[in-house]
Amino acid sequence: MNDDPRKDTAKGEPEMARALLAARRYGAGALYPFLGPGSGEDPLGTDAGKPQRKATVLDARAAAVTEFRESAEWGDSLEAGPWNFCVPEGSDSFDLARRLYAEAFAGCPPTSLRHVVYCGAEEESVHKALVSLGFGLEQVYGYRSLAGTESSGVGATRGVGAGGQTTAAPGFRVGRLGEANRRDLDALWDLVVREHAEGPTWAGLPASYGAAVKEGFSELWADPEATVFVAYEGDLPAGYQCWFADSPGVAELSVGAVLPDRRGRGIGTALFDAAAADFAGRGFGTVITDWRSANLSSSRFWPARGFAPYLYRFVRRFHPYQLR
Ligand SMILES: CC(C)(COP(=O)(O)OP(=O)(O)OC[C@H]1O[C@@H](n2cnc3c(N)ncnc32)[C@H](O)[C@@H]1OP(=O)(O)O)[C@@H](O)C(=O)NCCC(=O)NCCS
Repeated sequence: MNDDPRKDTAKGEPEMARALLAARRYGAGALYPFLGPGSGEDPLGTDAGKPQRKATVLDARAAAVTEFRESAEWGDSLEAGPWNFCVPEGSDSFDLARRLYAEAFAGCPPTSLRHVVYCGAEEESVHKALVSLGFGLEQVYGYRSLAGTESSGVGATRGVGAGGQTTAAPGFRVGRLGEANRRDLDALWDLVVREHAEGPTWAGLPASYGAAVKEGFSELWADPEATVFVAYEGDLPAGYQCWFADSPGVAELSVGAVLPDRRGRGIGTALFDAAAADFAGRGFGTVITDWRSANLSSSRFWPARGFAPYLYRFVRRFHPYQLR
């Protein structure tokens, strides 16, 4: 019999990891019902035997599944994806999270200069443990109810008053993207990637990524899954939001932006209100979105529109000499 729980460690125990992570997903689904039960998903997927995924179980109660991801654009990473880093709540959560990280990420390929851990917004001990280990917050995932959203403002003309003053500002209207106005995204598609490439986000903008984003935007008008809302000031497309049906009853606000010199005048809010009303009218009860925590505009704007965090992505970066 082993009296020291720290020695009761079993790496690579897929069945126990599966059970613990299924329970974790179940708990997340109870706390955030829009996620759905989710317990049927297998964190080890069909690649269970492949070396890219590793299951770690600690003290028969904490578990993680890590996955090695290669990317020529962004660099390789080792990741414990959403709900795949499970630490039970308790007085020793902080220590358990630190030990689980040490076990789960041990022996990572020397090219994985990013370690990534997703954890629930409510797991404060895990957040503190990750920060103590050298991680930082990178991405916030939020949700908002669409209940009570008023009728659609699509097509309506709105007045925009600067700073709540009486200053006359041009009115704008919110329309939808279709074949006739498909080119209207040409002046808007790069707003978000440029925002993220600049400080303080400094996320980078590899040419191949920019080209892929541009191509994706050029096809949005014809995508039956996407609804793109465009704000016009006169004939000028000044901003947009793109929404998708994510799962039954759940919409995803995928991306949105407003021209820099038109920000702070209510255009983003009008786009959101129009899109929310449109999706609520189609029976969607929740909308999810996510944002870079370093993005000064979106990290302020989405919470102010009622989005509450449910998931965080923490990232730790290495210099190659550290992993040799
Ligand atoms: C985030 C973004 C879309 C918001 O668009 P916007 O048109 O500036 O949004 P609004 O003008 O409606 O609201 C912005 C702020 O101005 C305020 N505002 C709205 N109307 C106003 C008015 N008439 N006068 C003064 N302030 C006003 C809002 O209350 C809001 O403040 P808050 O967030 O503290 O509540 C825009 O800043 C943007 O394009 N950012 C860069 C791209 C990006 O990062 N997109 C998100 C990717 S996840």
